[in-house]
Order: sequence, then structure tokens, then C-alpha cells
Amino acid sequence: MDWTPDSWRKFPTRQQPAYRDEAGLRAACALLATLPPLVTSWEIESLKSQLDMAASGETFLLQGGDCAESFDDCTPSAITSRLKVLLQMSLVLTYGTRKRVVRVGRFAGQYAKPRTVDSESRGGVDLPAYRGDNVNGLAFDASVRTPDPLLLLRGHERAAMTLNFVRSLVDGGFADLHHPEYWDLEFVKHSPLSTEYGRMVRSIGESLTFMETLAGMRASQISRVDFFTSHECLLLPYEQALTREVPRRSGWWNLSTHFPWLGMRTAKMGEGHVEYLRGIRNPVAVKVGPTTDIDELLSIIDTLDPQREPGKITIIHRMGAHEILQRLPPVIAAIGATGRKVLWCCDPMHGNTDTVVPASGAGKGVPVKTRKFGHILAEIEQAFEIHGKMGTVLGGVHFELTGENVTECTGGARGLSDEDLARAYRTQVDPRLNYEQALELAMLMSRRMSGGGW
Ligand code: PEP
Ligand code: CO
Repeated sequence: MDWTPDSWRKFPTRQQPAYRDEAGLRAACALLATLPPLVTSWEIESLKSQLDMAASGETFLLQGGDCAESFDDCTPSAITSRLKVLLQMSLVLTYGTRKRVVRVGRFAGQYAKPRTVDSESRGGVDLPAYRGDNVNGLAFDASVRTPDPLLLLRGHERAAMTLNFVRSLVDGGFADLHHPEYWDLEFVKHSPLSTEYGRMVRSIGESLTFMETLAGMRASQISRVDFFTSHECLLLPYEQALTREVPRRSGWWNLSTHFPWLGMRTAKMGEGHVEYLRGIRNPVAVKVGPTTDIDELLSIIDTLDPQREPGKITIIHRMGAHEILQRLPPVIAAIGATGRKVLWCCDPMHGNTDTVVPASGAGKGVPVKTRKFGHILAEIEQAFEIHGKMGTVLGGVHFELTGENVTECTGGARGLSDEDLARAYRTQVDPRLNYEQALELAMLMSRRMSGGGW
């Protein structure tokens, strides 16, 4: 059947807000469709070829950012610290792999969330679930929780402001990592690997200086640091409004992001999300979890990429540390049997979410969603081992992280415990690694990938 940007409307579709104001939704989308896009087709093509290289093991994908961005966090400091942690992680990974790292943020548009249940009930009151700042607000209040189509415009504007600032920072030499004081390495002291980490960071600084001396210019100018954007392809009216044709290239492009992904909850054959995604030229990632039906996954991949285009499909597996050993090999074998080349990327976050009830401290007795550093690490380690054994390449990782000093995941060199969680628990949805935990993970991976073991 012919594809059009709105052909998804003929299919059943999950995870869409129940907008009461349909005329308002139509008007917001009509306006969105006239606004400038956020990214360009040539950037998307460049990313696609870099993802193809990651699939072959020539480059390595680092994808990370908030579970959901919030409008309140569209601030210079939050954006700068997120960029800083991603950049530093990428340098650390380059150090270990000796490969270029492709940096993709979960930012500039990651404003919508899928939810397991449509409504939330408190004290006998039922309200629509919070679905991200693009849809409604977090406060448990009827007017705040009612989906508001105007938020799509507010989200698009914030995505544009975020990306505008990211691009300026990157162009303006933000990548100035020569100063050791720029790396906040306090936590390193708490790690048994502190000497090694110190050596790693010093050596990164020295190689930058060496390169600059050779080339006679600042490292930021030697090779422009690219940041690409990604978000879950969830709110189809929004995605449709940003789907455009461009001069001198054929096909349709989602110009709201470089790299949309299909979430676990909407990866269904014969439904709207797969229909929409099959028509765009962007590279597409597909989340794969313990409940994924492998035959259906193969059909989805065939539908999204019938031509087997290089760099088109990334599989983000998020099985959980306890299930990956059982669940991942059959997926690898099934895709391998089709002869397709895909980029394998490990998301060690979404299969490792626990609810704990702190026994003491400020959050005593209140259940809270968290993730253990040890589980995250264990899933990555197993992912490396499984791919190694099966002859496939683990070409990337996908993290939920923030550059801020939050306390949402436990463990790491500082040894955060359940009792610490209440101190700086700020996520509106899933728990994120903080700056130190994210950098420490990158250091451990770097060590592992350079042959040093964990
Ligand atoms: C996410 O990436 O925030 C998410 C909801 O993931 P998944 O679809 O893998 O559950
Ligand atoms: Co999440």
C-alpha cells in the first residue's frame, strides 16, 4: 500500500493522548507543518553512514540523555552539563576503543513518554497519566493533566532552542577539554581504579595537545565535534507535521530529529508507528526487550527497511542484566539468519528498573524507582560477551543520564545507597545516571574495550 506522511491514520495506534480539543490539535499541527525543521537531510545522511560504520565496528555509537526532557530543564546550565558529560564520555571511549565515537543525544525533542497505564488514580481521583511535557504536566491536577495540543508547539520551540544552543556551543569551541579542572573527578578518589582513571584523563589531555601542536590549531577546529539528536517516535501527529520533502533528494524525511526510535510499547506490525516509520529516510532504531516476539521483530525490520539500506536499522536491546543471557542470543541468531547487517546497541537501563523502599533517611518508607550501577554494568558486560561469542559487533550503547549531580541510580564509586535517593531525586520518569556514574561507566567500558577487562 502507498505510504504518505498521514497513512498511519488508517491503522490502530497506541500511546496517543486523548486530546479533547481536536480542532486545537489540528490547528497546532497545521502551524507546526509551516515552521522550519530542526535538522537537515544531509546531516541525517551523514549520521546514517556513520551508523553503518558503527555496525561494522569502525566507529562506536554513544547515545544518551534524559529519559524525558522537561521544559523546566531547557536552561543553559542543564544543556551545557549534558553536553559536557556526553563529550567527556565520548573522549574516554575513544581512548579505549581508538575509534571515532558517534554522539547522539536523547535531547532536543525527547518530550513524550509511553506509559503502561493510561490513567493515574490518587485518593479516589482518576486523571490521565503524565505523558511528557509535550502532552501534559506532571502535577496531579485535572487541568494540568488534560492533554493540551499547544504544548506540541512549546516543545518544538524548546527543541529548537536546545539545538540552537548545542550547535553554538559546539561551533564555539565548547570542546575545550584541555583544562583538568573542567573534569570533575572528585569521585575518582573513591574508586579502586583512581590511578588508572587519572592516567586516562591526563593522557587524553596530552593527546589533544599533541594533535594541536602538530596541526597548529585548537582540537575543536581539527575535527568538528558532531552531536546528533534522537527521540522516541511517539506522538504521530507531531512527527507527521515535521515530515518533509527536500529539494534535490527523493523521499520523505522526519526533520524533527536525526534518529527516531520505535519504543517497545509501539513496536507492533499492522499498527500506526511501524506504518509511519516505514516511509521516512532517517535511520531508525528499534527497541527490543524480553517480551519482543522475534518473528514480529523480523517483519518489522523488513517493513522498515525492505531495501537493506546501509546504516538504516539499529537494534537497541534492553533485556535486563538477569535476562540478557537467555533472551539476546535468539534475537541475534534470528536476525543473523536473514543475512542483514544491523547496528547492535545495548540499552542497559530499561531492563534494570527496580522499585525500592528506603528503610531510613528522608525518603523512608516511600517506594521509589531506581537502577543499580552494578546491574547496568553487568548487562553491558554480558552484551559484549554475547556479541563476541556470536561473531556480531556490539557497536553502541544507550544510556539515560544527566550531567547534574542527581541521586536516582544507586552504586558507583561514591557508593550511593537507597537512603541517598531522596537527596536529589529529580527525574519525572525513569532514574538517570548522574555525571559521576556516567563518566565512571565510560571509564570502565573504555578499560574493557581496550582489552583491560573490567
Ligand atoms: C525509553 O527509552 O525511555 C523507553 C520508554 O524505552 P523502552 O521503549 O525500551 O521501554
Ligand atoms: Co526511560
